[in-house]
Amino acid sequence: MNQDEMKLAVAREALRYVVDDAWLGVGTGSTANFFIDELAKVKWRIKGAVASSVKTAERLKAHGIDVEELNNVQDIPVYIDGADEVTPQGAMIKGGGGALTREKIVAAVARRFVCIADQSKKVQRLGKFPVPVEVIPMARSYVARELVLLGGYPEWRMGFTTDNGNVILDVSDLTIEDPVAMEDRIRSIVGVVTVGLFARRRADVILLGTSDRVDTIVVGPRARIVE
Ligand code: 5RP
Repeated sequence: MNQDEMKLAVAREALRYVVDDAWLGVGTGSTANFFIDELAKVKWRIKGAVASSVKTAERLKAHGIDVEELNNVQDIPVYIDGADEVTPQGAMIKGGGGALTREKIVAAVARRFVCIADQSKKVQRLGKFPVPVEVIPMARSYVARELVLLGGYPEWRMGFTTDNGNVILDVSDLTIEDPVAMEDRIRSIVGVVTVGLFARRRADVILLGTSDRVDTIVVGPRARIVE
């Protein structure tokens, strides 16, 4: 399978985790887009979706899938989204598409996080992919200086504004020995809205597309398909 075929394969596999007659959390990115297109074929199964970005909401609506505000939804049994890097323990770097804040919020509400990715995203240690950090615009330079003190090399994602009206710093060269500690450390910098390290709220199950199959990596007790 090529990369797109892997994305399609994991998207199809993820349908097995969709809970009938419930709200579904839907992520952002090219893998999530494959999932949305597959979900459209069985849209009658779900109550509707909670989107992690404006782009995802638009794609869902274009398929005739109801999109609900998170504030009106109490229970999201499953959230399905891609990742830029994922470890076998389910820690992730996310936010390559800039939707990290809404992704983290929907993931926090969801009871189960199903990560869908092709095998190129699997790493033993996070940090080769630059860590996206969403920042309040007026704090950009200050936050960048603080990130340098952590050993990182922050780059302003020029010309990009998040759905929340903020900017993104992409931080390379970070040594991430303890993803939870690094997530907490970056989150504590004043002006940071969200860091794209998903170490506290990890994936519960990872569906990984390989050249000839989909591997299922069970991370947490919430990984099973049926409630
Ligand atoms: C968007 C994300 C995406 O999940 C991540 O960037 C992976 O995207 P893709 O499926 O296109 O590789 O976090 O903010």
